[in-house]
Amino acid sequence: MGPSPGVSGEPGGTWALVAAAGTGERLGIDRPKAFASLGGRPLVAESIERLDGCQWVDAIVVAAPAGWEEPTILLVEELAASKVVACVTGGATRAESVRAALAEVSDDAVVVLVHDAARPLVSDEIVERVLEPLAEGVEGVVPALRIADTVKRVDGRVVVETVDRASLVGAQTPQAFVADSLRRAYRGDLADATDCASLVERAGGTVMIVEGDPHLLKVTTSADLALVESWL
Ligand code: CTP
Ligand code: MG
Repeated sequence: MGPSPGVSGEPGGTWALVAAAGTGERLGIDRPKAFASLGGRPLVAESIERLDGCQWVDAIVVAAPAGWEEPTILLVEELAASKVVACVTGGATRAESVRAALAEVSDDAVVVLVHDAARPLVSDEIVERVLEPLAEGVEGVVPALRIADTVKRVDGRVVVETVDRASLVGAQTPQAFVADSLRRAYRGDLADATDCASLVERAGGTVMIVEGDPHLLKVTTSADLALVESWL
């Protein structure tokens, strides 16, 4: 390995967890979203291959959809993704899937990255960007984008208020954490956690943002899938 940003590269190194266990309800195809075809390959192949090829990543754990562990392992073999050390069965929620993957991370891991398989276009650049601030003592780092639209709080279809957009961002993945801080956060209640950072925040950890990447769009609908495919 070459020189590392932040605290990665130390003994135990940087682990990447790939959350790929969702059903993909809103995509509405005959298989889990992780196995939707993106450029002729399963969507999750993109994240696995990119993280496996990333010099800042030492080991990878994939949380696979229940019943799709075998195809996930075969895919890892096909990709010759040698950094993948485990495929676990995901849980009922994203947080439960991440908890299952986190259980496979070695005790001496220094940093844990958590990434959504639904964001296929992860890059070395964004990984480097989220790792860097960990050296400055923060516990978590999240790539984030400013919100272009005016944001309103609603009650049903009635607008309650217009929220000050200047202080709001949309959070993406990969999110980077000091391994011990993430473990501590995952010992608690996982209810309502739509990302890992929210659990670290709830546990009192400091989380900061770095500039995200529009290409890290989360594939939710078939239109998103087509858009990401056009960016491949
Ligand atoms: N995820 C997971 N385990 C779950 C639910 C979600 O690992 N039980 C992962 C998904 O595979 C995805 C990421 O978390 O990579 C973000 O979730 P989302 O985009 O909501 O995916 P799904 O839950 O699969 O989609 P939907 O909400 O439309 O069913
Ligand atoms: Mg979901």
